[in-house]
Amino acid sequence: MSDVLYEKRNHTGILTFNRPSSLNALCESFMKEIRDALEKAEKDPELRALILTGCGKSFIAGADIKEMYAKDADSIFAWSALGSELNMKIETMKLPVIAAINGYALGGGLELALACDIRIASENAKMGLPETSLGVICGAGGTQRLPRVIGESAAKELIYTARRIDAQEALRLGLVSRVVSAESLMEEALRLAESIGKNAPIAVRSAKEAIRFGRDASIEEGCLFEREAFRVLFETEDQKTGMGAFIRKEKNVVFRN
Ligand code: CAA
Repeated sequence: MSDVLYEKRNHTGILTFNRPSSLNALCESFMKEIRDALEKAEKDPELRALILTGCGKSFIAGADIKEMYAKDADSIFAWSALGSELNMKIETMKLPVIAAINGYALGGGLELALACDIRIASENAKMGLPETSLGVICGAGGTQRLPRVIGESAAKELIYTARRIDAQEALRLGLVSRVVSAESLMEEALRLAESIGKNAPIAVRSAKEAIRFGRDASIEEGCLFEREAFRVLFETEDQKTGMGAFIRKEKNVVFRN
């Protein structure tokens, strides 16, 4: 059986990490499989959102320490490039990506979740960047994305102490936007995906691009980028569909892909 399961519910794709013997630790072949599954999802014209989750008690328990242990500085550099590229792929995908964190999201697992657009967690989830306790630091974007998400001071505390936090603390820090029971995690993730999916796909994609652009731009550059994207959306059928439905007082607007 594959280490990454792919299923589709209406317009939502679900990738389930399925390497339970190592709590879904990221070895090289597994990272490649995730990358291939993302590429497959990206090519599916029917999808409007993607959910990433893990099987069993773990989302992803980090990079595979057993595979990493014997590497030297040169070989680990190429290895970590794979993780970085994977996370960049998630971050720049046209589809909105939801991490449904069902258990441990540690090290490389949290780094991957940080590249997703939205993170929701089950109440039993545990998150952290334990790399400094292993004698290293993050190798797939954790030092860059965590401070951007929760702020520099809180990120430094978590990274320097290697402390593992529970879902409620992650919620307080803004690391996840929702905490739900373990039983309802997928239901909530699907509901969230569907509520995104009913909106105009080009507009959602455009919002994703504008938010990402603005993260590293000045407010002037960001607003200019937004204004141009706003202009382009007035060339789409969706703009006429969405605004027209409001004017005609129609409910249940259906946007085409
Ligand atoms: N790499 C390789 N194997 C791992 C793993 C990892 N990150 N996490 C868990 N496993 C394996 C365990 O070795 C164990 O295998 P065996 O049965 O063959 O011994 C199996 O998964 C089950 O794990 P545990 O018995 O440890 O399960 P537990 O419930 O007692 O503990 C845990 C769960 C707290 C998550 C613990 O497994 C753990 O601490 N894992 C390591 C977490 C970690 O440090 N992650 C960061 C890795 S570094 C990184 O990610 C760097 C980077 O940015 C590139």
